[in-house]
Amino acid sequence: MVKICCIGAGYVGGPTMAVMALKCPEIEVTVVDISEPRINAWNSDRLPIYEPGLEDVVKQCRGKNLFFSTDVEKHVFESDIVFVSVNTPTKTQGLGAGKAADLTYWESAARMIADVSKSSKIVVEKSTVPVRTAEAIEKILTHNSKGIEFQILSNPEFLAEGTAIKDLYNPDRVLIGGRDTAAGQKAIKALRDVYAHWVPVEQIICTNLWSAELSKLAANAFLAQRISSVNAMSALCEATGADVTQVAHAVGTDTRIGPKFLNASVGFGGSCFQKDILNLIYICECNGLPEAANYWKQVIKVNDYQKIRFANRVVSSMFNTVSGKKIAILGFAFKKDTGDTRETPAIDVCNRLVADKAKLSIYDPQVLEEQIRRDLSMARFDWDHPVPLQQIKAEGISEQVNVLSDAYEATKDAHGLCVLTEWDEFKSLDFKKIFDNMQKPAFVFDGRNIVDAVKLREIGFIVYSIGKPLDSWLKDMPAVA
Ligand code: NAI
Repeated sequence: MVKICCIGAGYVGGPTMAVMALKCPEIEVTVVDISEPRINAWNSDRLPIYEPGLEDVVKQCRGKNLFFSTDVEKHVFESDIVFVSVNTPTKTQGLGAGKAADLTYWESAARMIADVSKSSKIVVEKSTVPVRTAEAIEKILTHNSKGIEFQILSNPEFLAEGTAIKDLYNPDRVLIGGRDTAAGQKAIKALRDVYAHWVPVEQIICTNLWSAELSKLAANAFLAQRISSVNAMSALCEATGADVTQVAHAVGTDTRIGPKFLNASVGFGGSCFQKDILNLIYICECNGLPEAANYWKQVIKVNDYQKIRFANRVVSSMFNTVSGKKIAILGFAFKKDTGDTRETPAIDVCNRLVADKAKLSIYDPQVLEEQIRRDLSMARFDWDHPVPLQQIKAEGISEQVNVLSDAYEATKDAHGLCVLTEWDEFKSLDFKKIFDNMQKPAFVFDGRNIVDAVKLREIGFIVYSIGKPLDSWLKDMPAVA
């Protein structure tokens, strides 16, 4: 029986391996992690991450050919293929701080694989890594190998949180990069055979190692760039009276452009986009390509601009002060159908409002209070380290932040409400009831363009929707970032 081990039981390792186990019943898959609470959660009825359809997949194979364990070394030792799906945070100190990927966790995983292995293995990069990381990993493995053969493959993951299971069942493509040697090609074939259990072979793209590594960074940069493009347009729409939804529709119907990823919003978030672009920028700079680096920097700058522009809009609309005012925050996750808050725009918007002395009452259907408080107290980039290593700022934000368990409670007596995540349940809220319980004038700031602004204005709200013609109230109060 082929044995697969995946190091890192996170948002990628957990769902990816669960689907692999389901589709390949004759392969034994074990997901290992140094975090005991995480592994305990994977073995319990309350999985550590929320992802539609995941629970069902895990329940079908857990205990049969899918296992979760903290015994990292044992399972690496026993396996034929080792996936590495550990954190690759942005460096916060030293050379490349604020841009380069911190490969500490990856390197320690590679050294451990070399230490415990007694048989040849295929080592698969699942984490997103800088181009040519495989070369470094290869060196670590071969210099410590005691004669064992390791083949390194790059198999970046393209799943999107919130639709991970659907994406894993029907990926647009699976990408496998390997060495152009006989042994390298044999390793590529072995991994291709695993995916071929459920992915049509013509959708399995095989490339060299560096193309596979760079393609992942490139794909995320292109996706983020589309969001920043439409968000830059949204600012211009507000200034000119155009409607960004109409503009995006007109642009997206061009088949060369396509309609996806053209929703204006308060900004992109998630664990990957910013981190991967920063990484790309660093690689461009290291290769003496400052113009290419500056091009990608702009994608992040526009995203920061959009988040601050939104928060400034809130403050300027409410007579230029939110001091002591209650602002309800509906949605904290970086997008709907996930409890993931990594790099969520809500963090920047909330921090900005807290700095302006607002009192926040936050509600998200999936994010726990403890997580929200951690996020609002954590230093930049710290979220991407295992939890015990995260630095929490000493000074609390506790007095200015309340976390509620329902949207009506959160909005009661509020002066304004901000929609920061596009959860479906926010679309069907009883806004008349909310209006009646809010201070007047009552403001809605829709960072996701999901509320019916016309209906809300009829109720009596002053409404700001990103990139839409401005309410007359807001026209004279430009939000300059
Ligand atoms: P995560 O933070 O949810 O999971 C990483 C896990 O690795 C943690 O549970 C941590 O305890 C564990 N870990 C770290 N060092 C370890 C070691 N030496 N031995 C055993 N376990 C160790 O991260 P996530 O989101 O799963 O991301 C993993 C990688 O995949 C990152 O490189 C990320 O950029 C990439 N990626 C993430 C996607 C996403 O949507 N979250 C999508 C595609 C790629």
